[in-house]
Amino acid sequence: MFGKKSSKSTIDPEQLELIQNAQKRIKQKKRLYIHFVLFLIGSIFMIVANLIFKVGIDTKPLGIDWFVFPIVIWLFLLAYHFFSVYITNRFMGTEWEQNQLDKLVKKQQKRIEELKLKIEKENPLPSQTSTDAESSPEKKKRELTIIVAAGEDNAIGKDNELIWHLSDDLKRFKALTSGHCIIMGRKTFESFPNPLPNRTHIVITRQERYKVPSGVIVVNSLEDALDAAKNDKQPFIIGGGEIYKQALPYTDKIELTRVHASFDTADAFFPELDLNQWKETAHIYHPKDEKNDHAFSFMTYRKT
Ligand SMILES: NC(=O)c1ccc[n+]([C@@H]2O[C@H](COP(=O)([O-])OP(=O)(O)OC[C@H]3O[C@@H](n4cnc5c(N)ncnc54)[C@H](OP(=O)(O)O)[C@@H]3O)[C@@H](O)[C@H]2O)c1
Repeated sequence: MFGKKSSKSTIDPEQLELIQNAQKRIKQKKRLYIHFVLFLIGSIFMIVANLIFKVGIDTKPLGIDWFVFPIVIWLFLLAYHFFSVYITNRFMGTEWEQNQLDKLVKKQQKRIEELKLKIEKENPLPSQTSTDAESSPEKKKRELTIIVAAGEDNAIGKDNELIWHLSDDLKRFKALTSGHCIIMGRKTFESFPNPLPNRTHIVITRQERYKVPSGVIVVNSLEDALDAAKNDKQPFIIGGGEIYKQALPYTDKIELTRVHASFDTADAFFPELDLNQWKETAHIYHPKDEKNDHAFSFMTYRKT
């Protein structure tokens, strides 16, 4: 999910992707402007050649001066160029895809909530009906969520890096975790070039004096990490393997990106899920494409 710590890079991969997209748009607009200037110069050149220097003065197909035809064809090409820059690329481009993905994630979350309410209505938990009724809504308020991308063999990383590039998974990770606390092991934190924007980082380490940039919270146990995130209604456990394993008993929900491939060389793994305890509530398949190294599925699990 994240890149390796590097002394050269000062921006995180999500910001870098946005900057690259912005640069691409600027180049497209510059090319359109140059095309427009060439069209003006070319048209004036043909008109002057015909009317002043009498080039092809007698050539008048359909009784119309010859220069009108190339100018009209060129105008069509220019209009097509304009259309592709401002319509096709604008609505079908990365920004458009990001918005669609955000909408899809929101829809998916809404549907999960609806299903959850329906299931709770149909099968009320015995403890919720009696003395726990008052304390239960309080408990329900917080939903600890694991977010992870794992191969078919549960591989999640190697040499403190990810083993794949899945652009759409990064976008979903950003959409789901933004504005929330993200709890992670020290090694996962060190795999980031920089802290991720718009998220509260809680880093777990056994080291007494572990140094971090300002704003990052350091704790010495998972329990302290959960305590530090107590005001967040949906804190996320974001890895890696050691922390996922320890956090599983406390977790209410898992957002798993199942990468449809196996990775023999991996050295970090997600724990095997006991499917008697976890129920799949959503599943969206995503094929492999030029921005995603492998086909994968967004899967949501809830504790039964
Ligand atoms: N695919 C994904 O979704 C995903 C997500 C995140 C990470 N990853 C990958 O996972 C790998 C890293 O995972 P990992 O298992 O090696 O390391 P990790 O879980 O990120 O961090 C392990 C470290 O956390 C600290 N720690 C663990 N349990 C603790 C406890 N109970 N109390 C206090 N500190 C504790 C220790 O830090 P100290 O040594 O400082 O004491 C330990 O060395 C990388 O390859 C990364 O790319 C993948």
